[in-house]
Amino acid sequence: MRIALVGMGVVGQSLLKLIAENRSELVARYGLGVRVVYAADRSGAVHRATGFSPDELLEAKKRGGVTKVADAKAFNNIFDALEDAEADVLVDATPTNIVDGEPSYSIIRKAILNGMDVVTVSKGALALYMPALKEMANRRRILLKFSGTVGGGMPVLAFARECSKADRVEQIEGILNGTTNYILTRMEEEGLEFKQALAEAQLLGYAEADPTLDIKGLDTACKITILANEVLGMKATINDVKVTGIDTLSSQEVNRARMTGKAMRLIGYAGKDVLEVSPREIDAKDPLAVKMAMNAVRFKTTYSGSHVISGKGAGGVETATAVIRDIISIKMYRSEAGEKV
Ligand code: HSE
Repeated sequence: MRIALVGMGVVGQSLLKLIAENRSELVARYGLGVRVVYAADRSGAVHRATGFSPDELLEAKKRGGVTKVADAKAFNNIFDALEDAEADVLVDATPTNIVDGEPSYSIIRKAILNGMDVVTVSKGALALYMPALKEMANRRRILLKFSGTVGGGMPVLAFARECSKADRVEQIEGILNGTTNYILTRMEEEGLEFKQALAEAQLLGYAEADPTLDIKGLDTACKITILANEVLGMKATINDVKVTGIDTLSSQEVNRARMTGKAMRLIGYAGKDVLEVSPREIDAKDPLAVKMAMNAVRFKTTYSGSHVISGKGAGGVETATAVIRDIISIKMYRSEAGEKV
């Protein structure tokens, strides 16, 4: 499978490491041979039909960007190169931008128009244009996968789809942002100041390139929008979500909750006609009251009650596993459909 990788941040680099470490296992278990034929970052784009080794791309990145790689066709404009790339799957690991969804929005559209299946971990384009992008992909029989946009390494979208197969999910509530959960846990357990806890979360690679998206609740808003569209059948955008972040919370407020058997958590909620993100005090024994960078989501269904899933919600390698899961499901779908990948 020929991969075009756009974005060489925490997730893009982790993906390359995972591919290198699991190459033979992917072949043995899924018949999946992965070849990265195109890579792009802020320095530009490179293309080599025979493929790049993950190590040479990671090395080039350390020296200033993918265009530092030797013996490759280099382009300043990532879109020109994408035209030539002849890849089977585009992996979009660009930073989330909720103003206009770029560059993710244009990259995804370009890939769809060029007949590439798409895996994205970038949330902005989906939070703004998910119904339109899905329709565009469906019309052209392109697979558009986005497991890594919600829950990091935890397969929350797959779980939700299972929950709604013979049932109906009516409400979704959960902790969907690792950075803020890490900050709140460090504040409640160690009495840390907000700023110090945020600096730690950034160092650990949990925060967005722009961490205000995390602390103002906008990252959670992207995720609850994606979940509401995918699981509740809404046609929502991030602008439909009422959002309050944790940036105005004091350590006293967090501590007061802890003293009364509660936990202060940033909760995303989606129900009938309601989309909301806000800090709430929940029972410390509630399964949603997870700690550090964990995420937890509860799906309330019509017939089978509530189902909760929790797991590692942020981090480069965790999110890269979601990308690999999507690539595997594309491989399996295309193989079953009789197409060679
Ligand atoms: N910044 C995000 C978080 C990364 O902290 O949850 C995962 O989407």
